[in-house]
Amino acid sequence: MKTIFSGIQPSGTITIGNYIGALKQFVELQNDYNCYFCIVDEHAITVPQDPQTLRKNIRSLAALYLAVGIDPDKATLFIQSEVPAHAQAGWMLQCVSYIGELERMTQFKDKSAGREAVSAGLLTYPPLMAADILLYSAHLVPVGDDQKQHLELTRDIAERFNKKYNDIFTIPNIHLPKVGARVMSLQEPTKKMSKSDPNQRSFISLLDEPKQIEKKIKSAVTDSDGIVKYDYENKPGVSNLLSIYSIFSNLSIEEIETKYEGRGYGEFKTDLAEVIINALQPIQTRYKELIDSEELDEILDRGAEKANKVANKMLKKMENAMGLGRKR
Ligand code: AQP
Repeated sequence: MKTIFSGIQPSGTITIGNYIGALKQFVELQNDYNCYFCIVDEHAITVPQDPQTLRKNIRSLAALYLAVGIDPDKATLFIQSEVPAHAQAGWMLQCVSYIGELERMTQFKDKSAGREAVSAGLLTYPPLMAADILLYSAHLVPVGDDQKQHLELTRDIAERFNKKYNDIFTIPNIHLPKVGARVMSLQEPTKKMSKSDPNQRSFISLLDEPKQIEKKIKSAVTDSDGIVKYDYENKPGVSNLLSIYSIFSNLSIEEIETKYEGRGYGEFKTDLAEVIINALQPIQTRYKELIDSEELDEILDRGAEKANKVANKMLKKMENAMGLGRKR
């Protein structure tokens, strides 16, 4: 059975962008692959986080993984910082990465722009992400389109290590969703939807109340021509809403376009809000059952135990390949 690794940062409450681009695929893939799903809290601290909020977000993300349908009997769910091999392997891979290639990463450029103090961790995020993936010999990494560049770098780092030291790493492939690989901001539809966007109206989180969802969809930026038609170049706002509608309703874009022919944006938006509310309702119900439960801690303990076993084995191989410590 082939292996999958993917992670999500607990840097806010996950959005429908994270759900469509990542989580939804995880649920489908867990039946056919040996899956490791991680709450990547060490990635989250590459930008400032409030400690109490971070702890809350970690637990909330764990509950959401399960609430959307990750089955702990099929997939290993764990918290990155509870498996120290990630940070150790991340350091070793930093030492085979070049500053030039790290500085070229779009996410580094975007997240460092306008900040007075940029952490070194923001620059060295990709080798840590490479460690996350390579420790589990993942064949496939299901992510949204924004992570493509990081995954390409992971492949380069792995190939470089294999050539220079020993051929120990599996070279992973990216797995993108067919629709919704990049869900865009509701307020700036040429920018991706992000859970840490300070403008709350730019995203819908999986835990938003129905009223909030209605408001956010109503205020979503569209255009003035009133035609529900997919045309990303000229109508990015409406095209984004159409993609979201299609994913949550299982109707094709064409079917939705036909349904709203001559009906304007008002009705389209009201119905879209309802489609999203209905899709999120069972997730929110399950979330409420899990969030304060002992079951959640038991699942995370079990996940950490299994992940530590697998990751420590690969870490040993890396140390041996690089000549660190003593041979044991
Ligand atoms: N807008 C998006 N559309 C589709 N997929 C997306 N992903 C993120 N945003 C979108 C996918 O979600 C997974 C988890 O992402 P992450 O938490 O590791 O970091 P990110 O990509 O930086 O996501 P955010 O929401 O933008 O977080 P912040 O605001 O903290 O930077 C990944 O698979 C990602 O591709």
